[in-house]
Amino acid sequence: MTAYITTPIYYVNAQPHLGHAYTTIVADTYCRFRRLCGDNVRFQTGTDEHGDKIVEAASRNNTNPRAYVDSISAMFRDAWKHLQITPDSFIRTTDEEHVRTVRSILQTVYDKGDIYFDEYSGLYCKGCERFLTEKELVDNKCPDHMVEPEEITEQNYFFRMSAYQQQLIDHIHANPEFITPERYRNEVLSFLSEPLEDLCISRPVSRLTWGIELPFDPGFVTYVWFDALINYLTGIGYPDGDNFRQYWEVAEHLIAKDILKPHAIYWPTMLMAIGLRPYSKLHVHGYWNVDDTKMSKSIGNVVRPADLVAQYGRDALRYFLLREMSFGLDASFGHETMIARKNSDLANDLGNLFSRSLSMVHKYRDGLVAAAGKREESDDLLIETAQRVLPAYRRHMARFEFHKGLQTIWELVSQANKYIVVNEPWALAKDEARAERLDTVLYNLVESLRLLSLTLGPVMPETAAKMSKSLGLKNDKRVTSLDEGGRWGVFPPGTTVGETGALFPREETPGKAKKAKPAAVSSKKKQKQIGEGLVSFEEFKKIEFRVGEVISAERVEKSDRLLLLKVRAHEERTVVAGIAEYYSPEELLGRQVLLVANLQPAKIMGLRSEGMLLAAKSEEEGKTKLVLATVSEPIKNGSSVS
Ligand code: MSP
Repeated sequence: MTAYITTPIYYVNAQPHLGHAYTTIVADTYCRFRRLCGDNVRFQTGTDEHGDKIVEAASRNNTNPRAYVDSISAMFRDAWKHLQITPDSFIRTTDEEHVRTVRSILQTVYDKGDIYFDEYSGLYCKGCERFLTEKELVDNKCPDHMVEPEEITEQNYFFRMSAYQQQLIDHIHANPEFITPERYRNEVLSFLSEPLEDLCISRPVSRLTWGIELPFDPGFVTYVWFDALINYLTGIGYPDGDNFRQYWEVAEHLIAKDILKPHAIYWPTMLMAIGLRPYSKLHVHGYWNVDDTKMSKSIGNVVRPADLVAQYGRDALRYFLLREMSFGLDASFGHETMIARKNSDLANDLGNLFSRSLSMVHKYRDGLVAAAGKREESDDLLIETAQRVLPAYRRHMARFEFHKGLQTIWELVSQANKYIVVNEPWALAKDEARAERLDTVLYNLVESLRLLSLTLGPVMPETAAKMSKSLGLKNDKRVTSLDEGGRWGVFPPGTTVGETGALFPREETPGKAKKAKPAAVSSKKKQKQIGEGLVSFEEFKKIEFRVGEVISAERVEKSDRLLLLKVRAHEERTVVAGIAEYYSPEELLGRQVLLVANLQPAKIMGLRSEGMLLAAKSEEEGKTKLVLATVSEPIKNGSSVS
């Protein structure tokens, strides 16, 4: 199949921020996913360089529009490179070819009689670069820019958009997937339930010169939206380029909700007037806020993708954005959530699985992966998980449900981690008679990692490449094609695996925004950073957790904080616990708790304490909250916990 995916072309009145990065990362991920499925894909992004806003920004920066757009457009191009985003074409509306095409389209529509000259008074919002209707205002202000629009009366050219209203409504009804998610389709239909006004498509040169001159009247330049939307055609060589013939039919535009109206109403009606079929699909996503607040220059909370890449790494950022936002809904960026996700999903779950598995192959088999032998129950469970997860991943990604696609993949990550715990390869390695079992366990782990590198490629291209290289499969079809590699058991036995470096360093300072790390870190230092804050699985296994029941509890004299407890686990233990501010002795009796059972005994206020209870602690509205950890169902006292 063929696909043509576009992002909005971004205004060059500001530098790239998190919102721009999100749309472009989504487009890049989706393109990589479609290529993984074997499709022929073209990906286009670019910059929108005409209009009032650009002129103002250039003069604010004491430069002329030409020099200004060149510099900011280059920043967008570099930002995408930095995020490993690889468009096939980067279009600028100041490109000569684009200017030529816009003028020729204007002439066609004018000759057809769909552009006329008239006087107009309206409420113009500079931020939106368009006239707003009374209905769109909130407290007389533009809801997006929070400023009162200016009343403007002028003579202008108009596009007969209203003539295509019914045709557009019919098209939306006949093509349920034309605008998704459904909430945005409904929004557009509701807007179209009122009569559509014609669209003002020119600006007098007395007011604006930085634009494309109308071919039929040099006294006017083209309204920036009429110019910008046409980029989707010029980028593929409309009207007679090969790419146009190949890709226009399958065009899928990706935007955020802020520019729904130009894309869902202006653009398809313009296409109808040009005599072209509307694009195939419009995918609309929500807005990124920062710490639940709208991102804005005046608040000073604009997040720059380059800073985040320096702090967390590009793949961690790509993963976070796709995992955290449900496509179509708003989401909030915060450093704490970013750090928590990176540490738990990437450093712990995925990173540890990768390094543990490969280091065991090195340690027990000198890096050589042998064939799997007879299957046992735990193998079936792992294989079934992989076989369930792969088609679900494919379905979700194809529907732009990236967060669900990733959630699904993490089911395999977590099953593979459990598989290690259940099979205890380190114990198998000590027993000659169980050599085949160890081979099977190691093979299945490596095969799981291969499937993970295959499916994570679109989201985290750098990490996936690192993984597949370590698995000895660089550029192998089995890690680059879902059809060839998306089945269980295709990892070739007899392969020697490579180095096992950590995939993701842990973040050490949750809770506060960090300064960007210096770009270059020596490899020795890096190794140290990776090791810090981590415990090896062997170290973790040394801790003995047990379920115990509180059989007596009393306050410790002269202490507000301490309770003296007797806990019945595999044996009876005395525990002095600092929980008196949160629990009364009575409410603890009969409760099952989690005990660290092999902690060195200690004397606390003269009392011997032979263990520690696990509890969760948080700060909520300035108050500390503490709750004891327990088991989800009653279980025999003394049961071990792992
Ligand atoms: N130049 C027009 C688009 C013309 S397309 C023919 C424009 N440019 S823009 O620079 O303002 O970019 C808007 C787009 O940037 C949004 O539709 C979205 O893709 C992205 N985002 C900008 N801020 C965003 C958030 N806060 N959150 C998510 N995406 C946002 O409009």
